[in-house]
Amino acid sequence: MKIIKVTDEQAGGKAGFEIFKEALENGAKTFGLATGSTPLTTYAEITASDLDFSKATSINLDEYVNLSTDHDQSYHYFMNENLFSKKPFAQSFLPDGNASDLAATTKAYHEIIENHPIDLQILGIGQNGHIGFNEPGTSFTANTHVVDLTDSTIEANSRFFASRDDVPAQAISMGIAEILQSKQILVEAFGKNKAQAVKNMIEGPVTEDVPASVLQNHDNVIVIIDEAAASLL
Ligand code: GLP
Repeated sequence: MKIIKVTDEQAGGKAGFEIFKEALENGAKTFGLATGSTPLTTYAEITASDLDFSKATSINLDEYVNLSTDHDQSYHYFMNENLFSKKPFAQSFLPDGNASDLAATTKAYHEIIENHPIDLQILGIGQNGHIGFNEPGTSFTANTHVVDLTDSTIEANSRFFASRDDVPAQAISMGIAEILQSKQILVEAFGKNKAQAVKNMIEGPVTEDVPASVLQNHDNVIVIIDEAAASLL
């Protein structure tokens, strides 16, 4: 893993932007995208730039189940708001959390990923070490699947909803096996509440109890962390 330490989230956004720019200049065609607060500064740098993604494909990591795409906490809404409306891609895929047949949807999403190999995947990390919505205990061999969110993730994400009860109990997530097939992976983490997860990801044993630890097995991972997130290393 290549570790880039930055002073704060703003500097992290600039560093993340440089990774996207370089990938695009090197011919990357498919970008794996993440939601959450972590990639926001990188997306802000991208939207303020003249980088052109109009010939590129994006594939998002995850989406809640049973949340309307126009709900302001749906990842469809998030991506339109923070990236796609300002920086359109030729095509953008997100899991369909409202599909009547979720099994068919996850299978179709796997095929989308197979047909569009991801050149650069950006990831945030959950406080419990999750990536995408792959919670602790998820098999490293899993492809896109329906996830029961853990209490800690529901709690962490409840800050974005009117109440804890409004947080969906399930999500669709790209699987760890698919994430690992990305040619390059960029992990970003900012703030003290990510310090333990960052330590476990980088220094801990590779274990399904800490999904992000699997990234130690990938040969092209860049980690951008601020001082607070790096404080336990
Ligand atoms: C969420 C998302 C993840 C994200 C993580 C951290 O539950 N499913 O993709 O990386 O949790 O979120 P944040 O960046 O807001 O801290």
